[in-house]
Amino acid sequence: MKKTIILSLSILICGMQSYAKQKELYPYQDARRTIDERVEDLLSRMTLHEKVMQITQLRAGNNDQPQNQLEAMKGIDPLMGSFIYSNSDCKVRNQVQEAALKTRLGIPALFGYDVIHGFRSIYSVPLGVGCSWNTELYQKACAIAAKEARMSGVEWTFAPMIDVSRDPRWGRIMECYGEDTYANSRFCVAAVKGFQGDTISNPHNVAACLKHFIGYGASEAGRDYVYTEISDQTLWDTYIPPYEAGVKAGAKTVMSAFNCMSGIATSANPYTLKEILRNQWGFNGLVVSDWASVKQLVDQRVALDRKEASFLAITNGVDMNMGDNCFPENLEPLVQEGKLDTYTIDNAVRKVLKLKFELGLFENPMTKDIPESKRFKHKEDLELIRQLAEESFVLLKNENQLLPLQKGKKVAVVGPLADDQDDLLGQWKGHGLAEDVVSVFQGMKKEFGAEHLIHAKGCDIEKADTSGFAEAIEAVKKSDIAVVVLGENRKWAGESASRSDIQLPVVQVQLLKAVKRTGKPVVLILSNGRPLALTNVESQADAILEIWQPGIEGGNACAHVLSGAVCPSGKLDVTFPRSVGQVPIYYNRRWPARNGGGWNGRYQDIPSTPLYEFGYGLSYTQFAASDIKTSTTTVKRGQPFKVEISITNTGKCNGKETVHWYIAARSSHIARPMKELKFFEKKEIQKGETITYQWTVDPLRDLGFVDKVGHKFLHPGEYTISACGKSIQVNVVD
Ligand code: BGC
Repeated sequence: MKKTIILSLSILICGMQSYAKQKELYPYQDARRTIDERVEDLLSRMTLHEKVMQITQLRAGNNDQPQNQLEAMKGIDPLMGSFIYSNSDCKVRNQVQEAALKTRLGIPALFGYDVIHGFRSIYSVPLGVGCSWNTELYQKACAIAAKEARMSGVEWTFAPMIDVSRDPRWGRIMECYGEDTYANSRFCVAAVKGFQGDTISNPHNVAACLKHFIGYGASEAGRDYVYTEISDQTLWDTYIPPYEAGVKAGAKTVMSAFNCMSGIATSANPYTLKEILRNQWGFNGLVVSDWASVKQLVDQRVALDRKEASFLAITNGVDMNMGDNCFPENLEPLVQEGKLDTYTIDNAVRKVLKLKFELGLFENPMTKDIPESKRFKHKEDLELIRQLAEESFVLLKNENQLLPLQKGKKVAVVGPLADDQDDLLGQWKGHGLAEDVVSVFQGMKKEFGAEHLIHAKGCDIEKADTSGFAEAIEAVKKSDIAVVVLGENRKWAGESASRSDIQLPVVQVQLLKAVKRTGKPVVLILSNGRPLALTNVESQADAILEIWQPGIEGGNACAHVLSGAVCPSGKLDVTFPRSVGQVPIYYNRRWPARNGGGWNGRYQDIPSTPLYEFGYGLSYTQFAASDIKTSTTTVKRGQPFKVEISITNTGKCNGKETVHWYIAARSSHIARPMKELKFFEKKEIQKGETITYQWTVDPLRDLGFVDKVGHKFLHPGEYTISACGKSIQVNVVD
């Protein structure tokens, strides 16, 4: 009895205490309220200074991006709304967070990072991923990256990058999914779903960021940070759709860009940031500037000073200022001087608070410190990213079926990238470590047995030193086959890493030629972050496999393809020119005035065709396509119809085949591309098996086009639908 009374009393006291505590809660601290209520309540309690700090982002932890070096964490204001967090564990983050929670209102800080192709378990660079045409697999890879990041204290990634790029000189081409608008849209959606999952409050998911809005990929002559000239028509038909797809998929944030586009700076452009993004698409998330892109409005001579730059950015649609401290310096004075209204600032702060509530940061601000072995490189995750690498490799040439390599042969593995680990990571490698990378040679040893291989480096990636050639040639002479691994240093691609010459360095070409002169069959493996001009090396190899920068499982993936354990299935997401003089060169060019279809605009010195076209890629097996069938040839607006094609695997091994569906309009009052990719699908087909691929065509969405103000239209008339070299005509009647 006594026990029961004591128990009841203590329950009562606890209840009263929690009631009292409950009463002390401000509405914004009450998780039972809606996010909008909590945001408005919190906003109403904030001072102007607190608000301005919320929309500011600086860096915490180390930063290995040399262009972003700023002061280290110390001395940073605990009121700061957000940080770029560059450490691979949560310790510093949690210290920063503790300081934030101790401030007057206890608003947690938000931690972002460039998780571009993995956090620690690094997978293929996006340009390679695009060649896999496997969006389901990619979505899973992004989910792995999200899990590793969130468990390490990062809840926001600055990815995906969906700047359509048609200029291989531009180093950042490696960050997008190639030259095609639709491909970028589909991979963007996969990335957003993979990063964000069902809800970003899940401790394994992160908020995604669509970047760089917009037109950054058209940088003049491939130089970084420079001007881009894009007509309204091209903006709408080429550059905008991936962003619209990402917004529709629910991306929580968007990053404004560095470039001035058609006369207007993209980090202060009311048409793109307010009219299109907010008014037309109803985007309600956060817009963060790119690193120092507010301050750079001064460098671009569109603002007189940092104060005007801050005013232009915030009034034209940038909510959060990354990296340059312009907002904390200038927004309060601008308000005090009556030049800026608090309404504009409130609106920006709302977006930040909303994201923090959605991430669950008010309830779970701290990250649990979990050992690396539990956070990174889980076995099943490595298998998945290895498969992604395998599917992103593109077999460019395979004379006399040199590949797969015959079992039991002696193979010389030579070249500067043969046993290289660091460069296979690619740029924007997150927390990837060279020691995690399986090199091509290491992968081959496991697959073929060390006794069948001889390794010799031959030369460095760039240094004009040929003293290692003799050893390499000796190794080749002692072998039946030479596997030569050439390509780029990872630092040659990525931000501020343009190249005017996109050929292999001279010393590498010399090595390849010397190997070829031995008369042994040559397999060339290429690892690079951009399309290369391969005209002078193409004839020097019997087989060529493009592996891009495949990440930590790259060597295993490569060995599997070389041995035939995996049948290559990648197809190019970007055109390889014959020479840099052809740039820009891309498949969906518009019709020329003379000389009909094909590749027009003749050069005196070279053919106008590219070396390898978008969509190109060989397999170890063969596929035969049936004619295309359609459920109707008379098409009406609003009435979707089906087209289908059957593909038979007529070769000797099982393989995956991607069907790309293209459309072409017979005529249009706005000049349209000669063909436009509108759908793709990849499936596994067993040898001897036939599989049917189907596509449901929505007439307005798939046959229609867009005008220069973004209005979608559908002309009556004839359209060609093609896939795998087959085509049919349909007629749109109104
Ligand atoms: C890049 C962005 C990146 C940001 C933060 C900038 O220099 O342009 O893509 O997200 O830095 O690291």
